[in-house]
Amino acid sequence: MKIALGSDHAGFLLKESVVEYLRAAELSYKDFGVSSEESVDYPDIAVSVVNAVQAGECEFGILICGTGIGMTITANKHRGIRAALCSEAYSARCAREHNDANVLTMGSRVIGPGLAVDVVESFLKASFDGGRHARRLEKISLIEKQMVEMKKTDGNNR
Ligand code: RB5
Repeated sequence: MKIALGSDHAGFLLKESVVEYLRAAELSYKDFGVSSEESVDYPDIAVSVVNAVQAGECEFGILICGTGIGMTITANKHRGIRAALCSEAYSARCAREHNDANVLTMGSRVIGPGLAVDVVESFLKASFDGGRHARRLEKISLIEKQMVEMKKTDGNNR
């Protein structure tokens, strides 16, 4: 399992705690930055992480910003990406079991390092339950396909 990891300046320190956990757990990861608390725009980092997941280079992504909201909004604009903003372990587990989430997002101004590591661990240890949940995800995929079709039609009408 390889994890794509990224944060903006606000999430940098919490990302370092996640890196520490991943190292200790001997989990493979690729860090897409940032490497300091110098101000950046969170969509730039989110896109890099999400591209690695979409390309299959990494199985999961973890994105951290101040609230986790900007990273979540950006990540979920991408086809096939299911990003879940989690602040406790139960939601993180369900995000995998029910939603087959492939990106975990967290807010560094919302949770501390201990809780964040719990959240990451729950997310990574859980697996998708399938069954009725798969049927629901198919409906989400259908919405994505319809959006692609709408864009094509829109382009043809110009
Ligand atoms: C940066 O100040 C902050 O806006 C960002 O980290 C994030 O919380 C946005 O959603």
